[in-house]
Amino acid sequence: MNDQVDGRELEKISVEVAREAAELALAVRDRVVGARSVADLPTKSSATDVVTAGDEECEALVRERLGVLRPGDVVLGEEGGADAEPEPGQVRWIVDPIDGTVNYAHGLPWFAVSLGVEVDGRPLAGAVVEPVSGRVWSAAAGCGAQLDGRTLRASALERPGLAVVSTGLAYDPARRRRQAALLARMAGEVGDFRRQGCASLDLCSVAAGWVDGYYEHGLNHWDWAAGALIAEEAGAVVRRPGAPGSEDPDGLGAEAVLAAAPGIAAGLADLLRAHGVAEV
Ligand code: IPD
Ligand code: CA
Repeated sequence: MNDQVDGRELEKISVEVAREAAELALAVRDRVVGARSVADLPTKSSATDVVTAGDEECEALVRERLGVLRPGDVVLGEEGGADAEPEPGQVRWIVDPIDGTVNYAHGLPWFAVSLGVEVDGRPLAGAVVEPVSGRVWSAAAGCGAQLDGRTLRASALERPGLAVVSTGLAYDPARRRRQAALLARMAGEVGDFRRQGCASLDLCSVAAGWVDGYYEHGLNHWDWAAGALIAEEAGAVVRRPGAPGSEDPDGLGAEAVLAAAPGIAAGLADLLRAHGVAEV
């Protein structure tokens, strides 16, 4: 790793910039989104994958602020894509300007600005800020994870059969059906399920012990970059997807993200494999 890169400093910057974007997200929602039906919003990968003025304006703000505070870094963002491929040792910001856009567009309060920081593909720092509650989740690699300054710890549960597990469903209807079928097969095997609609906050919920585990297939890098580090730094076992087209060494599916309390992670993975996770 580049010795000049300080994870704590990057964590601070990620919090500062995510907070500014969170304020903007609320202002834009009041101005634009609430005034119209979600049916009128533009879409991306499918009819339900909406993009709002908030997504676009927040990402523009994040790019502008990072350009001032970290001019030598590169950015990968959900709306604007990659500005450049990182050089070896160069810092890369992974930006989800609004994670949980469907919640945002419908007036549900569970959405967040998520900023992850990596060097050579290794996570260094990240922040997830919730505009409505003002909660700030953050972490730096090797330094732990915090919610509003309080240290986070994943749950101490050891029985997968009692676990509350969060999951997500893809925008693509065919994949969503396969995911729902897996969920139906798993439904009798764990304590309960949640579908909260914001991957970064699902991962933060694992970090806080609010849920015991989370899995989802087909996320984009910006959905999990910050939250996966926050969960890991809180002691959760985290499995990230490989590079596109890469192998699936553990049978969970090459695109699986899984985060779970250490006492249930192996058991939850076994249950998913036994119930056909590979078909998702
Ligand atoms: C989505 C949310 C959702 C998850 C989807 C993501 P977006 O991100 O995190 O919870 O199930 O897979 O794409 O579109 O709201 O930024
Ligand atoms: Ca997202």
